[in-house]
Amino acid sequence: MCMKLLDLRKNLKKEFNQHDIDEVDVDFIISEVLGVKHTELILMDNVDDDAVAEIMEKVKLRLNNVPVDKIFKKSYFYGLDLVINDNVLSPRADSEILVETAIKYIKENQYSSVLDLCTGSGCLAIAVKKNVPDAEVSASDRYEKALSLAKKNAKRNGADINFIKSNMFENVTEKYDVIISNPPYIATDDLDELDEEVLRHDPHHALDGGEMGLKYFNIIHENAKQHLNNGGMLILEMDSMQKMLIQSLFTDFKFIECVKDYNGLDRVVVFKK
Ligand SMILES: C[S@@+](CC[C@H](N)C(=O)[O-])C[C@H]1O[C@@H](n2cnc3c(N)ncnc32)[C@H](O)[C@@H]1O
Repeated sequence: MCMKLLDLRKNLKKEFNQHDIDEVDVDFIISEVLGVKHTELILMDNVDDDAVAEIMEKVKLRLNNVPVDKIFKKSYFYGLDLVINDNVLSPRADSEILVETAIKYIKENQYSSVLDLCTGSGCLAIAVKKNVPDAEVSASDRYEKALSLAKKNAKRNGADINFIKSNMFENVTEKYDVIISNPPYIATDDLDELDEEVLRHDPHHALDGGEMGLKYFNIIHENAKQHLNNGGMLILEMDSMQKMLIQSLFTDFKFIECVKDYNGLDRVVVFKK
């Protein structure tokens, strides 16, 4: 027995919409199970029973609030194929804005060294290295489990990156032309308001940014100057609500710009030493 793929997709999308889950996840699940690209689904006619059973098993997990990248332990970010697990934050589409901004300034200014502080899965560092291969890229995180996954992702994507295990700047000894970071920036008081799937599947230490979400921005502010070359840049992801507070914290840097995310919210801030 076979099932028409079109009917399966239509029924599942309806069910996902009823559960307020983005219907794009239906095609993600089906294409991962069938081992085809999303764009190829339209060309397929029937799905066999075994595949339908596997799809339904994954659908059940998704309806139980497990994000798709945690179901398949993989994520696509800035054209990269990454391995993901519960020890790291699932890369967010909005963080591609940070990568794009960093690549633009690295190329424009011919910067040659980059540090990705709080690297997690390594997504930002690897995306930068793949797009600016001549830059020397380092990446740090406090947690061994995150670093070992980031190393695996770097290898998988053929990116030569120098990894540093460090509590923020503690073991960082060099100076860089650019420091990028997507630090934990959710205010501790707001953590309860996050979606269940974020709270259950992203590590707490990747989210909790302390009072007003500013704990790590304060640490970056205190240390960044001594780890940046003159004329170097600091490129940080933030919550748009933090924009004014961050700008008033980094007054000893030259403010360059805020870059908006796909929803039109200020997401990335750029400073120059
Ligand atoms: C918001 S996640 C960002 C991960 C990844 N860069 C991304 O954009 O998807 C923050 C990361 O900071 C790391 N982290 C938390 N506290 C840290 C600390 N004190 N020093 C260094 N890294 C830390 C977490 O392990 C986590 O990987």
